[in-house]
Amino acid sequence: MTTVIVATGNPGKLHEMQAYLKTLSWELALKPPEIEVDETGQTFLENARLKASQVAIATQRWAIADDSGLMVDALDGAPGIYSARYGSSDADRIERLLRELGDSENRQAQFVCALAVARPSGAIALETEGICLGKILKAPRGSGGFGYDPIFYVPAQGKTFAEMGRAEKEKYSHRGVAFEQIMPALKQLEI
Ligand code: IMP
Repeated sequence: MTTVIVATGNPGKLHEMQAYLKTLSWELALKPPEIEVDETGQTFLENARLKASQVAIATQRWAIADDSGLMVDALDGAPGIYSARYGSSDADRIERLLRELGDSENRQAQFVCALAVARPSGAIALETEGICLGKILKAPRGSGGFGYDPIFYVPAQGKTFAEMGRAEKEKYSHRGVAFEQIMPALKQLEI
């Protein structure tokens, strides 16, 4: 079984990737903590590529990375690649987003998830970007999920991410879309 390094130090993200990639005969492992990658890209894809490539080179193994965040139209795409750094806690980030959006009529937003897979040489073998369209509510709804989930309403499902069950969010989220898009090519990869 080939070991693929997940370019994250977060065990939660490793488990999430394991769920999406369960049909592949890959063994996934966390990146060693001493390998640090600066996320200096200007887009989700650039950051995913950077993480996958640098972790692959440092470990001399295949690596997979994701980078995701929320883009709000009326805020010119903010918080975007700064989604995690937009505040010091989930509550803080939600509060800041709602404050900056104020009473704006335009609540349109999208969650984006970029995925990149790198060869042991660091060369990018595959990449994709999954998108989930939604609207920013004026107040949080639901108790599931994490991050901006309680204020992200998906009209197609009639629920916020925080009101969806785990499997439902896994399917319709930006991450679910990205993994569905990349899966046929992942299965073809001769790892
Ligand atoms: P990362 O790519 O996992 O580091 O995610 C960046 C940040 O985007 C997270 O810290 C969250 O604030 C936000 N984010 C990404 N995906 C989701 C999601 O599915 N729900 C809520 N927030 C998310």
